[in-house]
Amino acid sequence: MQIHETIGGLRAALKPLRPAARIALVPTMGNLHEGHIALVTQARRHADAVVATIFVNRLQFRPGEDFDKYPRTFAADCEKLAAAGVEHLFAPAESEMYPQPQRYHVEPPAEHADVIEGEFRPGHFRGVATVVMKLFQIAQPDVALFGKKDFQQLMVIRSMAADFDLPIEIVPGETVRAADGLALSSRNGYLTDDQRKEAPRLFRTLTKVVENIRAGNRDFPGLERAAMAEMAAHGWIPDYIAVRNTFDLQLPAAHESRLVVLAAARLGSTRLIDNLEV
Ligand code: PAF
Repeated sequence: MQIHETIGGLRAALKPLRPAARIALVPTMGNLHEGHIALVTQARRHADAVVATIFVNRLQFRPGEDFDKYPRTFAADCEKLAAAGVEHLFAPAESEMYPQPQRYHVEPPAEHADVIEGEFRPGHFRGVATVVMKLFQIAQPDVALFGKKDFQQLMVIRSMAADFDLPIEIVPGETVRAADGLALSSRNGYLTDDQRKEAPRLFRTLTKVVENIRAGNRDFPGLERAAMAEMAAHGWIPDYIAVRNTFDLQLPAAHESRLVVLAAARLGSTRLIDNLEV
């Protein structure tokens, strides 16, 4: 695996591959787990060469969030990516990505970026869209993969790619879960042993909401309230549990069948997110 720390280095390495090879991009912030590796494996099926990126993007963290303590495990990440057959890793320093404070940003529309997760993390999706647009410009992939665990992020990136006519296929990856249902996430590492035992309740609560909807219950606000109360009764501080349509995450129309239940809740100081499609 070739490791590139500069934009010029990555571009020079990819240039001879084009146009013959199809290039896949798997953007990450590192601290890789099986969910990321599943995206890499999936990427290989879509392309001849896989480019992974590791960059903890300050722009998508709000002051007081976990940017500083976000786990940085570069050596272990490199081993995992090389073992998964990644040809190129782009791992720039902040000074390479943002040699000066970023002046131009990608501003997703409020109905995509200021709701659900965006209501609790104002500016987050602007930061995500901006860095992903930069990574797209830098690597110019044919296809890019994003996990469904960050369902709203996937929707924002898909919409951005469509609105800007980017010639990049956006491919979703299924959420990878531990045996007890907890969605794999770099942030699971913040949990204490006791919190780790409690953490699968998020998945179980989402499962219950999904089962209720499948059984014909369309009282979405009632289901959301009951699920939030269930989490709170077990010591969680839920930010939201929300039933939305899958395509633009707006409130579902009366007979909408393409539904997703999204959740974010705090367990101690760790904020976990998850979602389940109905
Ligand atoms: O999902 C992530 O890890 C990040 O939001 C991404 C897409 C790499 C952008 O920083």
